Amino acid sequence: MEEKKKEGRYSRIHKQLEALLIKTEDPLARMASICAVLHHKMDHFFWTGFYLFKSDKLVVGPYQGPVACQELEKDKGVCWAALNKNAPVIVSDVHAFPGHISCDSRSQSEITLPVYNHEKKVVAVFDVDSDCLDSFSEVDQHALTGIMELIHKKF
Ligand code: SME
Repeated sequence: MEEKKKEGRYSRIHKQLEALLIKTEDPLARMASICAVLHHKMDHFFWTGFYLFKSDKLVVGPYQGPVACQELEKDKGVCWAALNKNAPVIVSDVHAFPGHISCDSRSQSEITLPVYNHEKKVVAVFDVDSDCLDSFSEVDQHALTGIMELIHKKF
């Protein structure tokens, strides 16, 4: 998708989510709604979901898309990389990322972002896979970072 078009779509999704998430403060319910909206509105999202950081493990949470790995081997792959670096990770070709964990062979590119609670502690990783190479940019990173902040926002 062209970058300007992507920006416009993210902006509309952000507003739609603000209106939707006001109905509950439950983080899991908010995560589920975020996945559903993003997955069905962004053409390049092939797998869209959260891995919850629990007892030093990344365990699958709300998601949309093909069946995914339930737990991710510690310190391996793109989700753990975002958690360990405490920063988003964009991978333009997953086959070139050492240790990438492939839950579905159709995935080609990926973005992961740490998700923080109100105390700025990491509680999850948000992960999006695309079935095309080089699908994610700074535009996705910026927009998705803003959307992640909605999970713990008091409206
Ligand atoms: N590719 C991820 C694993 C999760 S799936 O993409 C849904 C990783 O390397 O951490």
